[in-house]
Amino acid sequence: INKIGVFTSGGDAPGMNACIRAVVRTGIYLGKQVVGIHQGYQGMIDKKFTDMDARSVRNIIQLGGTVLKTARCVDFRTYEGREKAYQNLVDAGIDALVPIGGDGTFSGAEELSREFNIPVICVPGTIDNDLYGSDFTLGYDTATNTVIEAIDKIRDTAASHDRLFFVEVMGRDSGCIALHAGVAGGAEAILLPEKETAIDDLIHKLEEGALSKKSSCIVIIAEGDKNGGAYNVAKRVKEKFNFYDIKVTILGHLQRGGTPSSFDRVLGSRMGYAAVKSLIAGETRKMVGLRGNEIQLTDLVDAIHNHSFKLEEDLLDMATILAI
Ligand code: F6P
Repeated sequence: INKIGVFTSGGDAPGMNACIRAVVRTGIYLGKQVVGIHQGYQGMIDKKFTDMDARSVRNIIQLGGTVLKTARCVDFRTYEGREKAYQNLVDAGIDALVPIGGDGTFSGAEELSREFNIPVICVPGTIDNDLYGSDFTLGYDTATNTVIEAIDKIRDTAASHDRLFFVEVMGRDSGCIALHAGVAGGAEAILLPEKETAIDDLIHKLEEGALSKKSSCIVIIAEGDKNGGAYNVAKRVKEKFNFYDIKVTILGHLQRGGTPSSFDRVLGSRMGYAAVKSLIAGETRKMVGLRGNEIQLTDLVDAIHNHSFKLEEDLLDMATILAI
């Protein structure tokens, strides 16, 4: 391996910059050249390559988002798109890749490396925390803390007005942010994509709370919950329940931005460092992950096929009891 290409793809996540910095500096320290590929797979197709040196990643460890920018690229899903991207990599002398992203990013990397035999070591970067082979993904810790900060603020106004708030958080397929932020924020109920909640059961729970003198309530809803999102749930609850004035807050993309937490900076650094060392050691088609505070490699195909957040039922049961 002479020249490593690093890029971010899919949704941005806090901690990606710490990882880019680690890839660049570890690669250079070990005598390799490192190229930054802008806007993920799209940049690979459009030849958006920049030679990196140790100074090109100065002062970025503390920044949210990704300095390499990111995109969701449709063209890369075709063989022609990947062939063009690979030819551009060959022309630029890039002979190994560190993709940072979620399962979509991994699928693209897996196909490219299988079809054209280019070594890849992926880094799990997504706020959703839904990748098999890592206890945590980059950005999840920061995003959850951002959500909790928002819930705390909503709780102030909910309590002042005696209101019921439905707060929608990110997670199209993963309820991890909702579950953990719900527990940490003391939510009265948590609705997740992994477990269906009947509206009548929710209403019953809220009624019990109201009758036991709860003066305000917060319900956390993951965007992928099968009831169709916070506005729909609020509308249906309103039809049968009139103990509180009801409000809805959708937290949206503010959950993706912001200064990465210490945890995400350390995780990004560890994963970027390990990705480069693994490539140089001859590994390929793997994902670096954190398992029990140790960096471990998982086969990329396993990481992709087993991708999903494994619902911690015990946390959900506990949250129900702690919210009485
Ligand atoms: O995968 C990360 C994530 O933030 C999901 O939680 C969310 O459903 C999705 O990305 C939103 O994607 P976009 O920014 O493309 O709308």
